[in-house]
Amino acid sequence: MSQEHITKILSGKGLAAKIRQNLKYQIAKSKIQPGLAVILVGQDPASEMYVRFKSQASNEVGMYLETIELPEDVREKKLLKIIEKLNKNKKIHGILVQLPLPAHIDVPLILETIDPMKDVDGFNPENVGWLSAGAPEFIPATTRGIWSLVQSTNITVAGKYVVMVGASNIVGKPTAQMFLNHEATVTVCHKKTKDLAGFTKKADILISATGVPHLIKAHMVKPGAMVIDVGTARLNGKTVGDVDFDQVKEKASYITPVPGGVGPMTVASLLQNTWDAMCLIEDIEN
Ligand code: GUN
Repeated sequence: MSQEHITKILSGKGLAAKIRQNLKYQIAKSKIQPGLAVILVGQDPASEMYVRFKSQASNEVGMYLETIELPEDVREKKLLKIIEKLNKNKKIHGILVQLPLPAHIDVPLILETIDPMKDVDGFNPENVGWLSAGAPEFIPATTRGIWSLVQSTNITVAGKYVVMVGASNIVGKPTAQMFLNHEATVTVCHKKTKDLAGFTKKADILISATGVPHLIKAHMVKPGAMVIDVGTARLNGKTVGDVDFDQVKEKASYITPVPGGVGPMTVASLLQNTWDAMCLIEDIEN
């Protein structure tokens, strides 16, 4: 590029540390300790790693934590019973069932059973509905993390063209909904989208959450776009994102790194949701 190009690296690591610090301070002052229950079924290495990050962070900020590890072949009934018990447990304000779950378990039934007031993932259909209606109680952690990162740049979202690559219930759909709620024009692309680059190169804000390493190349990015990378994969022994960082950073105005971008923001946002759940349940001003 002939002109000097300055891209700002959007550090999720830095912002997440500030959020945790702030929560730690609020929790230290609070009469009630927020409590989080995390349920992990089976031994998927990625899920184990996410649960470890979530547990470490909730401990660090002074939350009460219960981690419940269940075998891969756990009966659905048993899982439902555990959730029902946690719904009634006064020490627990947030309940998270790590996804994916084994195939024999009915995921919608599990998500529906979590008390909507303790649904810190925002995946209970009631909370999905509130987000769609533009009045969310809980914003799914990754979406909240992305939103906080975008807000930290002070750019205006209204009227921007946002392209969300990936249409999962966990990231793509709630994130698209969040930006639509704030008056962006939103396109959701996915595996079957024809001419992906045709969409991405028009995006003012490009968000990718596919897990396909280096899917997004420089020619697919509009000069000056903001690029948010939610993917994590291993490539040649390194952790990389959906975005070919070294190429794309030359074109973007802002870009999130992997690791150290959206990942730590997801964890910090889950803690914020747990704090919010505690305030909601205990009727404390937040
Ligand atoms: N698996 C991948 N991301 C998430 C998440 O945000 N919440 C839960 N429960 N499971 C996940």
